Amino acid sequence: MALQLRVYVPPHPLIRHWLAVSRDVGTPSALFRTAMVELGRWLTYEAIREWMPTVETQVQTPLAECPATLIDPNVPMVVVPILRAGLGLLDGAQTLLPLASIYHLGIVRDEETLQPSFYLNKLPDRLDPQARILILDPMLATGGTLTAALEQLIQRGADPALMRVVCVLAAAPALQSLSEKFPALTIYTATIDEGLNQNGYIVPGLGDAGDRTFGT
Ligand code: URA
Repeated sequence: MALQLRVYVPPHPLIRHWLAVSRDVGTPSALFRTAMVELGRWLTYEAIREWMPTVETQVQTPLAECPATLIDPNVPMVVVPILRAGLGLLDGAQTLLPLASIYHLGIVRDEETLQPSFYLNKLPDRLDPQARILILDPMLATGGTLTAALEQLIQRGADPALMRVVCVLAAAPALQSLSEKFPALTIYTATIDEGLNQNGYIVPGLGDAGDRTFGT
């Protein structure tokens, strides 16, 4: 059976609440950062549900021995925030994945051509093909930035089927392009917005996530 991109919009009231706060033009930068942390936390919580590898074991309680499930310490856990805006989601994700390795990617979109280019790449030369990789990129507009990041990860041995993307807004053009290029991928988003304006911004969107996170 052919693989198909999976896109989940978790129906969680906290995700809806913090999405509304982040969209509101009146939300000041400090509160916008809180919204990003909370969206990072709750979307990561949903994204790792059936993704974190576990091992079955036994534990001794004060009363008896009983079966138990632990996170498998032998499978590498990786988080890749895409700078700048992906940094806003990192704190929330890291509270749930405190042992994950964090590899930063700095990618900027040319404002006219919308083409992505790298200004920072902290990925190691090789990634364990079993690594679980969580990518943080709040705004999937054309999908160009995420595509550039995924190509770097795949070149280093990562398996798209073991990746999860956490974003806040996914626009239809990005989902169309990603489904053609990476059908094994799974995306968790707070919502799906329909389109882009002539400058490549998501509409209704939330504006420039990097500027609003960093008050620029
Ligand atoms: N990046 C943003 O920060 N906002 C958009 O609407 C699109 C890309």
